[in-house]
Amino acid sequence: MKPRIGVLTSGGDCPGLNAVLRGVVLAAEKLGWEVVGFGDGFEGLLPPGDHVILDRTSINGIMALGGTIIGTTNRGHFVAKVGAGQRTVVPANIIADAKKILEELRVTALIIIGGDGSMVTAQQLQEAGINCIGVPKTIDNDLEATAMTFGFDSAVGVVMDALDRLHTTGTSHKRVIVVEVMGRHAGWIALHGGISGGANIILIPEIPFDYDKIGAVIKARDAAGYLGTVVVVAEGARPRGGQQAKHDVEGGEFRLGGIGEIVAREIAKRTGKETRCCVLGHLQRGGPPTTWDRILATRFGVKAVQLTNEGHFGSMVSYQNYQVRHVPIAEAVNRLRLVPPNGEMVQTARDVDISFGD
Ligand code: F6P
Repeated sequence: MKPRIGVLTSGGDCPGLNAVLRGVVLAAEKLGWEVVGFGDGFEGLLPPGDHVILDRTSINGIMALGGTIIGTTNRGHFVAKVGAGQRTVVPANIIADAKKILEELRVTALIIIGGDGSMVTAQQLQEAGINCIGVPKTIDNDLEATAMTFGFDSAVGVVMDALDRLHTTGTSHKRVIVVEVMGRHAGWIALHGGISGGANIILIPEIPFDYDKIGAVIKARDAAGYLGTVVVVAEGARPRGGQQAKHDVEGGEFRLGGIGEIVAREIAKRTGKETRCCVLGHLQRGGPPTTWDRILATRFGVKAVQLTNEGHFGSMVSYQNYQVRHVPIAEAVNRLRLVPPNGEMVQTARDVDISFGD
């Protein structure tokens, strides 16, 4: 009987998850492991144990497929984080149930593909005696412990494509178009998407903005003869002295969103210009991964199996200096990487006439 590795995808989905699963299965087979996939994130670990054997046949042709073939959730019994910097404890009976299922299925190590919240859970499972290896994923690219996460490049590509389209309709109607993008508390998607899509104004959480300044930039563009203006606003952006826009605030948990409409309204008020808002939402999370994301995801999957094979439990795969390495999960969690407001990327944007509304 072959030894078994478990694998699950947890938290919000992102392009590249299936490419990681494919990398895991193919690399595991070479090293003599059998792979068991658990359904719907950590929930699959609960009795009766929602699982499937992943072999060459099950992963055939999934590289280009968005989402995750084994399902995911960012809710449920294992949530160990309800907001930035907040940690809750996964109940001991839930962890004990998961441990029992893993033992019954002869799974000796678990590869957890997830974001910061999932890594907080992974660390708790590791501390409870379950051998865990983490694989970081998020379209937000906001984890300090890895220079890049897969999914980010695909999300930025969606924003860039949207901006290419919105420029032409905005210019034709001499309108201002406000595009709200994801990213949670980090402005990376807005910044990269905005620069690559030729945005005129980018609003990010790390640089609080001023509505009057934004109005003045748009009026100056009008005076200079520009027909349209495209504003990219990150969902976590907020005006100076103001709050982030949130939906569904419940028990410390909330979803960011809604700032695009507010910004559009304030721009119309200040400039008298016809202004429209377009929220890209989950379009940024779906669809096939880009070349870069497919390669990074494959490298992460293969590395996770190597770490398992070598017994480096409690580690998370990480991309550093063009190499895939590993760091302790315990050191990787709760460390967000935000856009440095005076960093090179922001300066580059300013140098190509992009305003941050500050
Ligand atoms: O972390 C990824 C992300 O897409 C964020 O950018 C966004 O704030 C959040 O997840 C949306 O989550 P949900 O899919 O639960 O609406």
